[in-house]
Amino acid sequence: MADLRFLGISGSLRKGSFNSAALRAAAGLMPAGASLEIFDISAIPLYNEDVKVQGFPEPVQKLREKIAQADGLVFATPEYNYSVSGVLKNAIDWASRPPEQPFNDKPVAIVSAAPGLFGGTRAQHNLRQMGIFLNMRFVNKPEVSIAGSASKFDADGTLTDETAKGLIKDLMAELVTWTRRLKKA
Ligand SMILES: Cc1cc2nc3c(=O)[nH]c(=O)nc-3n(C[C@H](O)[C@H](O)[C@H](O)COP(=O)(O)O)c2cc1C
Repeated sequence: MADLRFLGISGSLRKGSFNSAALRAAAGLMPAGASLEIFDISAIPLYNEDVKVQGFPEPVQKLREKIAQADGLVFATPEYNYSVSGVLKNAIDWASRPPEQPFNDKPVAIVSAAPGLFGGTRAQHNLRQMGIFLNMRFVNKPEVSIAGSASKFDADGTLTDETAKGLIKDLMAELVTWTRRLKKA
């Protein structure tokens, strides 16, 4: 049984998502003593304050609990128009509502994948900006943005690119080190 348990959230709902595939790769590259569970955000409804005042919908409540219980988070974000996907922003918005917003002080790592030349770096910066307000504790290095993603995964959605695999492995190791440091402080 892993002593550190992380939660992975992909910002893409499509079956063939490169980002979801990158998250699955990360789950298989966790260091000893750590595990990564993937949470599917497809059941999260669109944010509506009128609904929120009546109580969190069940999928949102589940997400909030999973985030609160996790030792840290891994986001895999697509880049939509230089930002994160709407579904990821929506899930973060829901989960962040009071009381006790669960992102506070949470160690967080980000990966991104995109078919273009930049691999989702601009979405990563947007996500970091949101994380400032929510007091997430980001791992800064290594940066993992899988550019040209169409040639880096096979038809089954397995990451085949050795450089990307190595970077994800290093990022997961850094996330674990960072999490242990924050717990000690
Ligand atoms: C609405 C929309 C906007 C997009 N904008 C960008 C963009 O700004 N930069 C980029 O590199 N790719 C952009 N793309 C392409 C996505 O990177 C590509 O569809 C990617 O595969 C999405 O991630 P996924 O494979 O995890 O679903 C966009 C795609 C969509 C649907």
